[in-house]
Amino acid sequence: MTAIPVSIGVRAAPDSRWEETEAPGSPLIDTHGRVHRDLRISLTDRCSLRCTYCMPEQGNEWLARASILTLDEIEQVARVAAECGISTFRLTGGEPLLRADVVDVVRRLSRLTTADGAPVQVAMTTNGIRLAGLLPELVDAGLARLNISIDTLRRDRFRELTRRDRLDDVLAGIEAAAASPLRPLKLNAVAMRGVNDDELVDLVEFALRHDAELRFIEQMPLDAGHTWSRATMVTRDEILAALRKRWRLEEIPGRGGAPAERWRLGDAGTVGVIASVTAPFCGDCDRLRLTADGQLRNCLFSTSEYDLLPVLRGGVAVAERPVAIDRVLRACVRGKLPGHAINDPSFLQPARGMNAIGG
Ligand code: 5AD
Ligand code: SF4
Repeated sequence: MTAIPVSIGVRAAPDSRWEETEAPGSPLIDTHGRVHRDLRISLTDRCSLRCTYCMPEQGNEWLARASILTLDEIEQVARVAAECGISTFRLTGGEPLLRADVVDVVRRLSRLTTADGAPVQVAMTTNGIRLAGLLPELVDAGLARLNISIDTLRRDRFRELTRRDRLDDVLAGIEAAAASPLRPLKLNAVAMRGVNDDELVDLVEFALRHDAELRFIEQMPLDAGHTWSRATMVTRDEILAALRKRWRLEEIPGRGGAPAERWRLGDAGTVGVIASVTAPFCGDCDRLRLTADGQLRNCLFSTSEYDLLPVLRGGVAVAERPVAIDRVLRACVRGKLPGHAINDPSFLQPARGMNAIGG
């Protein structure tokens, strides 16, 4: 495919050639041929935990409350996205369950269909803390899949790592998820040297007991404190070496656009590894992100954002909004770079922490 000059900027001027060729509602294909089917929607930057790799202990600069998208605004954006072929919405945070209207968000988004009439899927990534209480309502509202984060099973470590003594609440959330009909159930763990790297097998066994798949994530430079270092990062190969001491690993082919590579653990179950740093999967990325304050991002690591607030709140007539939202979506997709540059000496960490971007 011919390279098309890409303008990167918060409010990049639309490129007229694309306007001509990309009718509203057509698939979201970027200049590298990637078709976008997944939109991650951050519902809030607030969180009940303070994981060291994500947020500072104190002094976090919260998004202004007035800028947080309302349920109606999220639905307007999601409806247009679905018409352009987005078929999965993943709700993230911060912690999505802290949002008072989270069940309504799930209910409204689950009712959307793509342009060809297929239903969309609504998934969620949560820290699990309010899950036990909310799960029946979420399932009733149409939630399809869950990822729950759990980095350690030891109470003292959990308290140190997340700066909150809430392991029991997370465990209750995982028990509730295991007892629910939501499958496949996934548990996420960020592997960290000297923190939980002696627990990798225990975490997998814990997941297997809960009919879930453990997915290890390589730590990425997204912490608000900018303390990430390659030296403390545990790599995919180290994770696999630790697991091979306990299981015979057999790679599962057919990953498609999914971030996780997966292995069978003999006949005990499966495990996944998301090797964002040592084996980036940008070439197959089909994801876009919407921050809680209405900024579209084409990558976790992008340094530019595409602002939807002027469309949603800036006096664009209601009837004109879908086309205007479509245009911002397209500008965002058009500006997508071939990949992140974590491994490049010129890499710049995004200004937002992970809690303000959405996982
Ligand atoms: N590197 C890797 N994973 C991270 N997460 C949050 N911050 C980071 C980081 N710096 C994970 C969370 C959660 C998911 C949304 O992303 O643990 O599982
Ligand atoms: Fe909260 Fe998730 Fe960040 Fe931990 S990683 S502080 S659970 S948003």
